[in-house]
This record gives sequence, structure tokens and C-alpha cells, in this order.
Amino acid sequence: MHIYFLSAATVFLFYTIWSQPKARLPHFDETLRELSLGDINFLHTTDTHGWFLGHINQRQYSADWGDFLSFTTRLRDICQARDLDLLLIDTGDRHDGNGLSDLTTPNGLYSSDVFMQQEYDIVTVGNHELYVPAVSELEYKTVVPHYGDRFISTNVEYLNDKGEYVVFGHDRYRYFTTEVKKYNVFALSFMFDFKGGNERVRVTPIETVVKEDWFLDLLEKHTRKPVDLVLVAGHIPISHSWLELYVLHGVLRTFFPDIPIQYFGGHSHIRDFTLLDDRAFALQSGRYCETVGFMSLSNIKGDNVTIDRKYIDFNLQSFLHHTKRSTIEQFNTDEGLQVSEKLTNYSNLLKLDESFGKVPRSYYITGADYYSNDSNSMLRFIENEVLRELEPKICHEDMDPILPPPSNSRIVLINTGSIRYDLYKGDFSRNSQFIVSPFKNKWKVLQNVPARIATRLQAILNKGPYIMENEIDYTIDLKELLSPYQREINSRISSLKLRYGQTTTDDLGSDGDDTIHRPVPQFAVPNVIQSYEYTDQQQPVDVVFYDFIERYVLWALQKACDGDNLLYYSLVEQLTFYNDCEQEFNVGELLKKYSLKHWR
Ligand SMILES: *[C@@H]1O[C@H](CO)[C@@H](O)[C@H](O)[C@H]1NC(C)=O
Ligand SMILES: *[C@@H]1O[C@H](CO)[C@@H](O)[C@H](O)[C@H]1NC(C)=O
Ligand SMILES: *[C@@H]1O[C@H](CO)[C@@H](O)[C@H](O)[C@H]1NC(C)=O
Ligand SMILES: [Zn+2]
Ligand SMILES: [Zn+2]
Repeated sequence: MHIYFLSAATVFLFYTIWSQPKARLPHFDETLRELSLGDINFLHTTDTHGWFLGHINQRQYSADWGDFLSFTTRLRDICQARDLDLLLIDTGDRHDGNGLSDLTTPNGLYSSDVFMQQEYDIVTVGNHELYVPAVSELEYKTVVPHYGDRFISTNVEYLNDKGEYVVFGHDRYRYFTTEVKKYNVFALSFMFDFKGGNERVRVTPIETVVKEDWFLDLLEKHTRKPVDLVLVAGHIPISHSWLELYVLHGVLRTFFPDIPIQYFGGHSHIRDFTLLDDRAFALQSGRYCETVGFMSLSNIKGDNVTIDRKYIDFNLQSFLHHTKRSTIEQFNTDEGLQVSEKLTNYSNLLKLDESFGKVPRSYYITGADYYSNDSNSMLRFIENEVLRELEPKICHEDMDPILPPPSNSRIVLINTGSIRYDLYKGDFSRNSQFIVSPFKNKWKVLQNVPARIATRLQAILNKGPYIMENEIDYTIDLKELLSPYQREINSRISSLKLRYGQTTTDDLGSDGDDTIHRPVPQFAVPNVIQSYEYTDQQQPVDVVFYDFIERYVLWALQKACDGDNLLYYSLVEQLTFYNDCEQEFNVGELLKKYSLKHWR
């Protein structure tokens, strides 16, 4: 392994020529692992969720989409000089989770324009392109024609203005020849079995597609053509436990028993690499512009394919290092700078930088221990400080605001799934608000709940099933992250002097991350958290909660009532809105209110 350090002089140069005032630079002294280029190389992005501006308050992921553009240009030049191919793949979920995508109508108006500056070879949709009809329409009418035959989808369809279902893409597949090595590639693209799409989209599950005649004919037809590589760009997790992928793989192998198959996955927001068999490889490249996945294959026509995979941290040190540039001037391209400028323009239009205060220190969701009341725990901070900012108010309903007896205590309950991202030291901006909690829920209240019952709800809910946020998010299984193998690696690495960052263990071992880090600690988080403001512990309590978790709260209430159905029904009878002004009072807005008061 070749370890590479930038000299102190180079570091100084970076600081002096870098002029964007808000931009943060990475640490330029991290130890990096090298990429092994192969005959055919891939860069993969997935689940970007609109993070094209980069992570302003996290140096490790501080590059923007313009830097990414320069990176791909420079790497393509290197590959071409060495007679190697480079292909770019994106596997969807470009919306929801960042102000850049979520503050426009329709959502994605500006962010898609930024995304499309990148020249992908294969692009497909994720489930976040399928929730809202206007978003699907923008995607179908703008992004699909932009990429033409490079935008494919094998199992997602769109209901066009003539009322016909058409492929959500240029075609169901792409058959093409690579520029340099002239490999014949047969590319397909699959969405996992997603049922939450809007009325203008239709997803046919893999299990069904693989039995349909048109699909079997398509595969059969390609067995009669020269194919050197089968490529599957999926919005689907690649973990060994995701059975759909294995159903697909089994069918592909019956038609292409010996041809290498390269899968790219997504949706579960993790870095991962799996081997499906000795000639079938799958890479998944994280989330939120934290990661560019790298994959290389060599000797694909021989009986001994050699491979490499790396998870590249989305920052300038990694980008410069892997393209062998020692100054930012050598690295930047005109097109890249142009995209960075476009981003700045959009950010200004949306006032994303507008600061509502300075976060004095970082708060972590799973990186700090909630159960030991760690003062770095984001969830404790929200319980103790932020939820108290909620006030009763009615915007939509034809009713008076709730004015509970002033002597009542109050509990405000939310599911932790509604908190999306850590809060980092630095500006708390309009964008931070979206990043931390983009969900717009209303608040409901159960009034005058006897204290002995109200105070049991949280514990009951935390013993219950995990509450998924709007069924949108796939939740990472913490147990899986903390496998004994991972723990052993963690303890071995933590003895070195390294910064915290991602440390991935996959089917090839634990040398996939390009930057060598100590693992971020991962603590268990509860299902729900609550603030508890009490006047007197004997007084009745108003239990306020996000309407999204209503059925869970009522379930817990019934348990807490312990067979006293009369009490349960009398409480439920009075269930009503507490605050239905979701634009003004969701958790992101409560944080903003807190910031304006305490962090300015
Ligand atoms: C596979 O190829 C690599 C490099 O091309 C070589 O070092 C290795 O010995 C080969 N293995 C087999 C089993 O042929
Ligand atoms: C950004 O905005 C400035 C000022 O309006 C304009 O001159 C420039 O062309 C814009 N840049 C891009 C890349 O859109
Ligand atoms: C947690 O710590 C905060 C102060 O950091 C304190 O106000 C609160 O009462 C503590 N809660 C528990 C449950 O220990
Ligand atoms: Zn996603
Ligand atoms: Zn997804």
C-alpha cells in the first residue's frame, strides 16, 4: 500500500488560492488508500438526495458537485491516457433531504439542473423520484430526455399525458460498446419492490418481471449478441439478505452463465460491496454526497477477473489525490467551476446560507449515547430544549386553538426517525433546517391524560416495533453494523491516531474506504423521545405528538390504560389537533426558533 502525504507547503497553497468564502476544506493530512485502475472503471453515486452543495459544516464531505465534475474529467483523462474505460453510474434518490432540492416547486427544479451537468453513462430512478406526481413529471420530462438512451429503467413505468404506461426512461435496457476497450455491455436497471409511488408511476416487482415473456425474450436476444459484461444499475440494496437481488441474479445466470455481472445498488444509504458469485460483483456507494464509489474490473474476458472497489470520501483531498493533482488550480476544470458558480447562484436564490445562528458544538444522533444522557446527544438536546418551543396553534382546521388548563403538564413526543441528520458546529442555516428534519407533520393532542398513564407511553413505545418515517426510509440495522468482526476491527484501528470517519467492512474485508479513519461510535437510539414539562407530578398531562405516529401512540395508550376501556375511549374521544401549522412548527422549524433565540 502506498501512503501519500501532501507537503505542508502544498497545504498552505490550497488555503491561499481557495477563494470561496463559505467553502470548507478537508484535512489535507489524512492517509489515503490508492485506487487500482482496471480495464474498465466505474464511478458510482447514489442517494444524493440533493446534497450537491456538499456538506458545509463537515470537512470530510465538503466538496461540491462542481468539484465532482472536475474529478471525473481528470480521472477520465488518466484512464484514456492508459487505454482504460471509465463509466459513470447513478442509481437514483436525487430528491428530498436538502434545501437545494426541497425548497423549489416542484421539488428538484434547480437541483436536477445541477445534477444533469454530470455526464453519466447510466442513470435510473429511485423511490424518491416516485412519491410526488410533479416530481415524477419533472424527472420524466426533463432528466430522461437529457440523458436519452443512457437513462434506463427495466421495471418502472410512467403514465404519460396520453394515459399510456411507458418506460420511465429511454428504454428498459441499454446495449452499448465502451469507448476505449470496445467491450459490449448489456445494461439493465431495477427498482426494489416499492409500493408507495404516486398514481402516475408503476413499479413491477423483480419477481414478476423475471417471469414475463418480454423480459425473457430480451435476455434471450442478448445471448445471441456479443456481451462482455452485464451491468445492473439498481435502486436496491445489495446486501446478502435482500432476496430480490438473488432472484434476479439467478435468472441472469441461467442466460449468461459465464459473463461477468456488475451490480450497482442503493436505497439503504450504506457503503457496501458483495460477491454474488466468483464473476458477479455488487457495489453500493452510501448517501448524501458523502461517497463516490469506485469499482474496477480487469481481464473480464478471461477466466480470472480481477477487481478493486473503493469508497471515496467526497472531498478535495481525495479528489486531488486520486487524480494526481497537487494544487487546486491544476485540478479545477472550467466546467467544474461553472457548476460551482451555478450552485452558488441557486443557493443565493433560495437563501440557503441565511444563518439563524451559530451551533456552538456538534450534536450526534447515533454518535453519542442517548441512554447515558451524553451532552453531545442530539436526541437529548431535542428533548430537553427544542420540543419546548412548540405552541398550540390552528392554521387549517375550522376550530379554535387548544387552550389546555394552565395547571396541566405537557409531554411532546416524536419518533426519532423524524430526525434525519446530525447537527454540526457552525452556521445553523435555512439548509440545516431541511437537512436535520425535512418532514412536515402536524401535531395532535390527547388532553387531560392521568399522569400515571401519560408517563408510561414512552417506555411502551420504545419496547414496541420500530416506527419508520413515512415508510420512506430504510433504517440501518445497528446490530449489523456492530457485528463482532466490525467491533474487532474498531478496536484495532482506534489505537492509531486517526480522525473519526466511515469504516466499512464488506465481502472483501475492511480496506475499502479510501480514507483511513477510526470508526464513529454507534449507539442504540430509542424509537421515540419526549419532552416532559410538568407543573406538579399529580396534575393531568396533555400528550402532544406528531400525527404521523398517531396509531402507535393510541396503541401505547390502550396498553397503558391496562383494560380500563372506559378511560381509553374517553381520552381518544377528545383527540384533536394541537398545532396543524406544519410549515411553521415542524421539528426543523422548532430548531430554527430555538436557534434564533439562543444561538444568534
Ligand atoms: C489471476 O490473475 C492474476 C493477475 O492477472 C494472477 O496474479 C493470478 O495468479 C491469476 N490467478 C489464477 C488462479 O489464474
Ligand atoms: C450566476 O449569477 C451571475 C449574476 O447574476 C451571472 O452573471 C452568472 O452568469 C451566473 N452563473 C451561472 C453559471 O449561472
Ligand atoms: C440529562 O442531562 C440534562 C443536563 O445535561 C439534565 O437537565 C436532565 O435532567 C438529565 N436527564 C436525565 C434523564 O438524566
Ligand atoms: Zn435514499
Ligand atoms: Zn431509496
